[in-house]
Amino acid sequence: MIKKITNKTISKISKLIPLTKKRPKLRSITDINLIGKTVLIRVDFNVPTIKKGNRLIIKDNEKIKASLITIKYFLRNDCKIILMTHFGRPKGRNLKLLRTNLVAKELRKLLPKNRIIKVDDCLGQEVKDKIEKAKNKEIILLENLRFYDEEIQNDYSFAHSLANLADIYINDAFAVSHREHASVCAITKFIPAYMGLLLETELLNLNKAFRPQRPSVWIMGGSKLNKINLIESAIKNADKILIGGALAFPFLKAKGYNVGHSLCDQNSVKIATKIIKNNKRYKNKIVLPIDFICSKRIAKNSKAISKDFNNIESDEIGLDIGPKTVQLFNFHILNARTIIWNGPLGYFEIKKFQKGSQEIANSIAKSQSFSIIGGGESSEMIEMFKLKKKISHISTGGGASITYLSNKKLPAIKALLDNFKLFN
Ligand code: 3PG
Repeated sequence: MIKKITNKTISKISKLIPLTKKRPKLRSITDINLIGKTVLIRVDFNVPTIKKGNRLIIKDNEKIKASLITIKYFLRNDCKIILMTHFGRPKGRNLKLLRTNLVAKELRKLLPKNRIIKVDDCLGQEVKDKIEKAKNKEIILLENLRFYDEEIQNDYSFAHSLANLADIYINDAFAVSHREHASVCAITKFIPAYMGLLLETELLNLNKAFRPQRPSVWIMGGSKLNKINLIESAIKNADKILIGGALAFPFLKAKGYNVGHSLCDQNSVKIATKIIKNNKRYKNKIVLPIDFICSKRIAKNSKAISKDFNNIESDEIGLDIGPKTVQLFNFHILNARTIIWNGPLGYFEIKKFQKGSQEIANSIAKSQSFSIIGGGESSEMIEMFKLKKKISHISTGGGASITYLSNKKLPAIKALLDNFKLFN
């Protein structure tokens, strides 16, 4: 007998997934008999790290903890578990720091009773032998998938070799499901595929924001400038988009203001210019910061000064939103019925630059709105502010949650749907 998952929400999930009249056929692991099977689970253990000397330290293990619901389900079903993940963005192979040894160590702490075997490759005879020798209820963790360029190239033969390692494949890596990569897309052409419980839970919660209670306010920040691409599609779904973090500077620059040494690049300025042109058509949905906390250096002991948006000096860096912006953003937050937040609004790792993010987080915690916060940095920030329990859903996916909520198809979810037709 398959042991049923205890979490009641899981049983509701499949009913809530449909967004269209026709129910998508995403297969859940709770639908099948798993006893004794060898399962290949794509997890996202791409956890935030910091460098200490010449080694890396995990800053926040939430993504690993979030996967335990699925891993434990398979353990209860006596499965032999193979886990695969990417870790960072290595260029080339075997970058020592980005080996999955670090996440294996963390997983051992979280599952002290289970044997976790870390192998030094994703493929090859040695890997196959170790899998063969492993007993049920043991976990084999493969090497960083991105050591193979074939992973990001969505290479079919690489995916085929991975698929050959197991009886069934599970995508439990929501956070990377917006990427068209071999371990989430191509692999589904070769093996019956299911969604894991973390992926199900993510979809269940994110689906609640599709027909949001209005006003729906999105807050976009963080340090990745390439997220600016997501604003264009987000604008169609949000009532207001509050911009902070590095994303604010391409907009200011596009409007002709000096941003000093703040994070900014030509490509993002080009995209910001286009968005500004369209903003009128979208009823001025974009709300930009009106002041910043600036400094000449990013350091604990550097002097921080409050500056209006049109007054940043050439040798200054904008490192947080200022008090006037907090007030402006709070006005929109307190009116909102749905809030989607992705990315801190300042350099929150240093206390003097975290006030903006902290105050906005406090307002969200106090508000009665349905709130979703997504992404590694954001969940780390919420953990740091001890507000986890006050947020309706903390998504493991940053780019993935914004892409999904912008009504764009996630390639890995589409791949799971297509798999149903191939292996029904
Ligand atoms: C994330 O951390 O957002 C996911 O793991 C995806 O990582 P990527 O942006 O390097 O593809």
